[in-house]
Amino acid sequence: MKVIRNIKELRAEIGQHRSMASGPVGLVPTMGFLHEGHESLIKRAREMTGTVVLSIFVNPIQFGPGEDFETYPRDEGRDLSVAEANGVDIVFIPGVQEMYPQPTKTKVTVSELTSLLCGASRPGHFDGVTTVVNKLFNIVNPDYAFFGMKDAQQVAVIEQMVQDLNMDVTIVPCPIVRETDGLALSSRNVYLSAEERKQALVLSKSLKEATRQLAQEEVATAGEVRNLLVKIISDAPLARIDYAEVLTFPQLQPIEPDTRLADTGKDCILALAVYFGRTRLIDNTLFQMKEGIPHV
Ligand code: PAF
Repeated sequence: MKVIRNIKELRAEIGQHRSMASGPVGLVPTMGFLHEGHESLIKRAREMTGTVVLSIFVNPIQFGPGEDFETYPRDEGRDLSVAEANGVDIVFIPGVQEMYPQPTKTKVTVSELTSLLCGASRPGHFDGVTTVVNKLFNIVNPDYAFFGMKDAQQVAVIEQMVQDLNMDVTIVPCPIVRETDGLALSSRNVYLSAEERKQALVLSKSLKEATRQLAQEEVATAGEVRNLLVKIISDAPLARIDYAEVLTFPQLQPIEPDTRLADTGKDCILALAVYFGRTRLIDNTLFQMKEGIPHV
């Protein structure tokens, strides 16, 4: 496994892999502090591509003022062991100077999809994400790029960017990975106190319960599903809901409260963001419409 911190060197190394015709190039973009969710992305990339590039870069421009850029957890040594153990070929770990030698005057903005959910709570966040992902695509020129569905809105936004700008890359969304008790894996879970960690289970519990209820005809409207999510999350005294929404996916269109999910004719997402203290956790469940019935 090669560890590269410099764009020029990275391009040369990837060029060598391409000249050896070692198959498609896969990019797994991350901000490090790797967990099993990231490992699942790397494993998928390993299955689908000949050269796996893992990028580790805590991207300052996707953090707002007062957010956790400075304190975002970092552990390069451990990340490199995880990468090596999962068969990564090249780890790209640029410094901020390498990625932004001067303040960027060019930003990539995806409209509409970024004005709600996390985009509403974190203004400018998605511009930072699409700008850095665009840069990484230009640097690596991957055939495939792998993203976790825990950040479902991010996947929808990046897919839109790729389509709108005719980028020659296939986005591969990968399923959410959870702890055995249901908590979705996130690098930010380390911020939780023991009590917050315990109460954070209301996210996955509410999604699971809504899924169960959705199978029953009478509790199948968007409003009822949303109320159920809010009710279960509110059982946790430390939880402060940022949003609990039921939307079409990937269009992220609101669904009228009295509309049955099945009647939208579209795939739908139940999306949550909940604060525990200063830690903001997100989670979601996607329903795919099959024969008019929503399936998880
Ligand atoms: O999902 C993340 O970790 C980040 O948003 C990404 C895609 C690596 C861009 O910085």
